[in-house]
Amino acid sequence: MELKIFDTSDQLDQYAAELFTKLINEKPKAVLGLATGSTPIGIYDKIVDNYNLNKLSFSGVTTYNLDEYVGLTPDNDQSYAYYMNRHLFSRVDIPASQTHLPNGMAPDPQAECARYDALLNEHPADIQLLGLGHNGHIGFNEPDGELSAGTHVVKLKEETREANARFFASMDEVPTEAYTMGVGSILKANTILLVVRGSDKASIVKEALTGPVTTQIPASLLQTHPRVIVLLDREAGRMLD
Ligand code: F6R
Repeated sequence: MELKIFDTSDQLDQYAAELFTKLINEKPKAVLGLATGSTPIGIYDKIVDNYNLNKLSFSGVTTYNLDEYVGLTPDNDQSYAYYMNRHLFSRVDIPASQTHLPNGMAPDPQAECARYDALLNEHPADIQLLGLGHNGHIGFNEPDGELSAGTHVVKLKEETREANARFFASMDEVPTEAYTMGVGSILKANTILLVVRGSDKASIVKEALTGPVTTQIPASLLQTHPRVIVLLDREAGRMLD
């Protein structure tokens, strides 16, 4: 595991954006596993800056997102499809047909999971970007006695709904279910880029990276992956030795 702690969020964003830029230049048909939430926004902004400076093209890139809320249409401004268009896809030259998320409106959730898994199996990610939930979740793989390998529908924990309520008009509007890539698919990525910011995540960072590997902290499974890069701001890394 490679660990880097940055003095400022801006430096972290720049570093991560350079990683993506370098990968895409070396491999124009790269497959990216992408995340949403507050953590990657600055990274996407810096990638777009690089794109505007003609440092990279997304024309050959394919993307697969980790998750999507059940019941939200892509034009709902809280859906992850909307988020990805807003923060990245509409700002670079990636063809829409090369961007993938689970379809939150799919009539048959089981068929949707199978469809997404078939795509993921065919196109393993060169790099998978991950944020970290306060309870140790990655994607929407919540702490549990057992975890699913493949794409599945999860009932969101109340703590996760509360954490995400800041993006919605009221708690009632926060969906109760989401599609998520399973930990098996996440761990199949060639490289995993885990990014965490903020003092409030310092203790879960320490537990996930240095504690026992347990399904009760899904991010701890990353300890079993051979190529994990962890980028933290000073606050998120403050409990690490
Ligand atoms: C988002 C995702 C989640 C978030 C996590 C942290 O696609 O899969 O696991 O990465 O909940 O969220 P933020 O970045 O908002 O703190």
